[in-house]
Amino acid sequence: MQLGVLKETHSGEKRVAISPETIKKYVQKGLDVVIESGAGDAAGFPDHLLKDAGAKIEKDFAKVLSDSDIVLKVHPLSQDRNELKSVKKGGVVLGLYNPFAGVDAHKGVEKTGASIFSMDAIPRISRAQSMDVLSSQSNLAGYRAVIESAEAFGRAFPMMMTAAGTVAPARVLVVGAGVAGLQAVATAKRLGAIVSAFDVRAAAKEQVESLGGKFIEVESDENLETSGGYAKETSDDYKKRQAEKVAKELQRTDIVITTALIPGRPAPRIITKAMVNGMAPGSVILDMAAVAGGNVEGSKADETVETENGVKILGFSNLPSRIAKDTSQLYAKNILNFLNLMIDEGEDKKPQLKINKEDEIIAKTLIAEDGKFVFGQDAK
Ligand code: NAI
Repeated sequence: MQLGVLKETHSGEKRVAISPETIKKYVQKGLDVVIESGAGDAAGFPDHLLKDAGAKIEKDFAKVLSDSDIVLKVHPLSQDRNELKSVKKGGVVLGLYNPFAGVDAHKGVEKTGASIFSMDAIPRISRAQSMDVLSSQSNLAGYRAVIESAEAFGRAFPMMMTAAGTVAPARVLVVGAGVAGLQAVATAKRLGAIVSAFDVRAAAKEQVESLGGKFIEVESDENLETSGGYAKETSDDYKKRQAEKVAKELQRTDIVITTALIPGRPAPRIITKAMVNGMAPGSVILDMAAVAGGNVEGSKADETVETENGVKILGFSNLPSRIAKDTSQLYAKNILNFLNLMIDEGEDKKPQLKINKEDEIIAKTLIAEDGKFVFGQDAK
């Protein structure tokens, strides 16, 4: 059985879907690993490292595709290179297809007979934690968001006492205390900032406080958490009360990191232009939701907007790619753990792919089967 890995061609993407560590594990299982030349360069895994770990390097991407039973990617197969055309009949492709957003990246799969697993559709149940790509990537993105903000901020984070005077600590506000937000709270705390955070989910309070952050509470009787642990859209009354609290907090905040998302909906708009105008010059806002519509009025995906009052609004759309060695390593491990559910040792001791759709993790992640789009057609 051959496992192939392609180079990512998506603009600005540095990650790769394999690591030296996971190559060794696949080889131990009896798989042949073939990687497109240069696929790991941007993530810090040059060809010779991948080769030393047991992979074969192939220059021709179409050959990697046509000979591989399983193909690993970060992004969907590239339309620019018409990668779908070369997929092996009946082959299996893994990547991040974002099926909840209705993105039609799977289009064309019907011509291939291939099956696609979307790693971002893995259910968030305990058994799947080691495969949870959203968590592994968001976690490091939250860390990176603080580092990027610190770089854009012209001042120090910690309080510093020097003979020439005392430097006041930076004040950081994190909006949305999910996986990325909690890591941002922890990172900003480690750098010495005074950190506060808020979230619509009541459960976030204890988590923020356990990391040393102050939780900003908006009094409400509404239950704003779904049974799956995600946020719900808030009422107008809640929005109004939340806006008052945020506006007040922003007046004394130097750095804001926003991470608020509602699955399947545009990102909630939490910070208005008027609130940004109330911030001091030199303040920094990093809108991690910029690519999903933005939590901040005026943010633009992949751009830095400088407002008239001197506030920088950063809109990085792919923070995981800015820490590509670590995120690739974790993504590769998530995939290995997921494939372990499906790769069995056959009678002849050779690895065999068994797609057991009775397994909830496999069923929910399978978005196209034998060339047919099937996402959402089981009891999801
Ligand atoms: P996410 O990326 O969908 O959203 C980020 C955060 O924004 C969430 O905490 C959400 O509550 C918050 N938010 C949404 N609208 C908001 C608003 N108007 N104002 C303020 N905050 C708002 O969420 P993420 O990070 O993926 O995690 C969601 C939940 O899933 C969390 O409870 C997390 O603990 C849970 N989870 C469970 C896992 C498991 O059991 N395997 C794995 C990972 C996460």
